[in-house]
Amino acid sequence: MNKQVRLAVFISGSGTNLQSIIDRCADGTIPAEVALVVSSDPEAYGLVRAEKVGIEGAVYRRKDFPDGRAADDYLLDLLDRHQIDIIALAGYLKMVAPAIISRYRGRVVNIHPGILPKYGGKGMYGHFVHEAVVKAKEKETGVTIHIVDEIYDHGTVLACEKVPVFPEDTPDELAQRVLKVEHALYPRVLKELSEEIAKEKTS
Ligand code: GRF
Repeated sequence: MNKQVRLAVFISGSGTNLQSIIDRCADGTIPAEVALVVSSDPEAYGLVRAEKVGIEGAVYRRKDFPDGRAADDYLLDLLDRHQIDIIALAGYLKMVAPAIISRYRGRVVNIHPGILPKYGGKGMYGHFVHEAVVKAKEKETGVTIHIVDEIYDHGTVLACEKVPVFPEDTPDELAQRVLKVEHALYPRVLKELSEEIAKEKTS
């Protein structure tokens, strides 16, 4: 068995969180390596980020498969072949199928750019969260990192950090402030999780 903890990062877009995870693995803060990047969008800039540092990138779209079973089997095989220990969702806009969650129970994590459960649920992702927060004139928003289970935005919260909202904020300005916190918090959580898994692998 491979002793190094291996991460798969799932993305759909720009991949700034992916970049922060790659950087913190490279400098040793996270005791793991990004072994695979999976994107639901072939045009996602995160795939370019992966390629630049020699990480394998795969485009995965369930619509490319004849049925759900074939899509699950393909992804499970891809994860197996890369000996993946942890799946980190970073701006991934698709649901992770139950077959994958059940195989990786407790090892699929997601970052949400808002406070859960208030600013979560179907349709409440990415920019929509920041728009809703500004519209509701909240004084605080935040970043939530949680285990992914079969229910959208539902699993155990691993970390949550508050971020202030100022009266003059636009959703874009707020998004930038929240992203900055995301880039520090996600590596912190992945460091802890990787340390736990590293211990299991060597015991
Ligand atoms: C982040 O705000 C993340 O919390 C959310 O989607 C955004 C992805 O940004 N799930 P990036 O692709 O990591 O730049």
